[in-house]
This record gives sequence, C-alpha cells and structure tokens, in this order.
Amino acid sequence: MSGLDAVFSGVQSALAPAGSAAAGIATLTWIMFAGAAIIFLIVMACVAFALFAPQERRAFLSDHRMVIGGGIIFPFVVLTALLVYGLVLTRDLVRAPGTEPLEIHVTGEQFWWRVHYPAATAETPPLVTANEIHVPVGRPVRFLLTSADVIHSFWIPSLAGKLDMIPGHTNRLLLEAERPGIYRGQCAEFCGSAHALMAFDVVAHTPEAFEAWMRGQREDARQPVTTLRAQGRDLFLESGCGACHTVRGTSAAGTLGPDLTHVGSRRTIGAGLFPTNRGTLAGWIASTQHLKPASKMPSFGVFTGEQLRALAAYLDGLK
Ligand code: CUA
Repeated sequence: MSGLDAVFSGVQSALAPAGSAAAGIATLTWIMFAGAAIIFLIVMACVAFALFAPQERRAFLSDHRMVIGGGIIFPFVVLTALLVYGLVLTRDLVRAPGTEPLEIHVTGEQFWWRVHYPAATAETPPLVTANEIHVPVGRPVRFLLTSADVIHSFWIPSLAGKLDMIPGHTNRLLLEAERPGIYRGQCAEFCGSAHALMAFDVVAHTPEAFEAWMRGQREDARQPVTTLRAQGRDLFLESGCGACHTVRGTSAAGTLGPDLTHVGSRRTIGAGLFPTNRGTLAGWIASTQHLKPASKMPSFGVFTGEQLRALAAYLDGLK
C-alpha cells in the first residue's frame, strides 16, 4: 500500500469514514483543507502583486479598507462560521440515538486495552476481553472510556473522533459502524515509552455474526485436544501465568494483564503488535521486554524451546 492509499483508504484513515461520526469529521477536514488552500492562494497572489506590480497599481493593498476587510472582517467571518459548524457537528456527535446503544467499557492500561461488555440480561454474564473490539453494524455503540493509570486516548479514525481516557473519570463516545470490516484503533495520547505500540482492531460484524461472536466468547476456554496443547496448559497453570491472566474454565484468574480465554481467536497479540500465531506467541513469552519495552509482562527466558512450543500451541488453540 502506498502512502496515499493509506491516507485515503487505509484501515486507520480519518478520510475513509465507515460511520456517520467519522463522516462528519471527514467533511469538516475537507472544508478546512479547501478553505485553507483558497486563502493560501489569495495571500500568495497578494504577495506576488505587492512584489511585482507597478507602484501605482499596488497602492490599493495598503488602503485602510483593504486592511480592515482582509485583516479583520474576513478572518472574523470565516472563523465564526467554522466555529458554528464545529459546535453543531460536536452536538450531533453526542446526540442520543434513536435506538438503544450497545454499551462497551474500555479501560486504557500501559500499554493495552481492557474491553468489557456489561451483562445485557440477568442470564448473560458480562464479558471481559482485550485488545480487540467487536461491534455490530447498524446499531449505535456507546463507549465508556476510562484509564487505570495515566491518560490515554481512544481513537478509531475510520469510525469516530478521538477521546481521552482519564483515570478516575468516564468519558462517553458514541459511534455507529455502517459497514462490516476491520478498522484499526490507536492510542492517541503519549502515555509512556510503548505508547506507539498501543493499538487495537475493531471488527464490525452483521448483527447475526456479532451475536455468534458474543456466544462464542461467553463460553469457557476450550480444553486442549492434543498432547502438546495439554502440556502447554499444564505449564501455563504451573508456571503462575494465572497470577496475571485469566483463562475462564481453568484456575487462572489473574486480572493484572489481558484476559486470555479466547486469545487464539484474536487477530493480534501485544495490543496490535503481531499477528496471532504460534511463532509470535512463543517469541512474545520469551522476549516480551525486547519486543515491547516497558510492558508490565517480564520476558520469560527460563522456558526451553520445547516448553515455548507447548505454551504457544495451548494459547493459539484458545479460539
Ligand atoms: Cu496509551 Cu498512548
């Protein structure tokens, strides 16, 4: 993908909107770009005229009407119009939608995303996952955003504007995906040395596919079907991985790090860092601090290659 393709049609482009909130922002961007381009051309024309036109013809440029009109009235009108447009757009972005929005809580943590779907009914328990957010298309989604440590910023350029995640405070962001697809989100507030490595994917499904995904995620982790995976599970549990990670259906119930119940079903590991497969999983466990310095997870250089193979096979099998 060339640079321009990434700008106009990439999975993380504010100029390739896939929802009404992002479309409004993209329109504002184009209006400001076009306006700035026109004003730039007018100013450059005036500069050229002032430099090269004969003395008697360029005198009008220093006329006081020109100064008041071009220097005060014109900027006042343009900036006021943009302000009003921006305020109306902002109001539309937070306006209560017609249908009841789906609520998703997201907590920014150094340097990953904790995602929590509250219980929809008494029968459906809440669901905790990480670093990948699934939404249905055609239904508004309200994100409740907060932080567990420092200020992060939640930004899915193709779907909505960015919003800060502030410790001890909950911000609300409303968006609606209009077509199924995968959109990339990125932390947009410097939050520490691994800030640039704090990303996530948003997967927008048809409503039926979303319900199917939700049902699958609510189930406990699959039991290993191969000897290698069973060895990996035993190693995972014996090595104390459960002190930080939860795998529902096992004794691992830690909440410090990402919930790994269905980690094998996620597109990436390390908050958008690598595609999920056995190789990246093994590498991640062995050299976390090399791959993502300042991550709270230490590198586990103690495992042998054989042990890493088993652990990676187990985690990859948690679909
Ligand atoms: Cu989190 Cu930058």
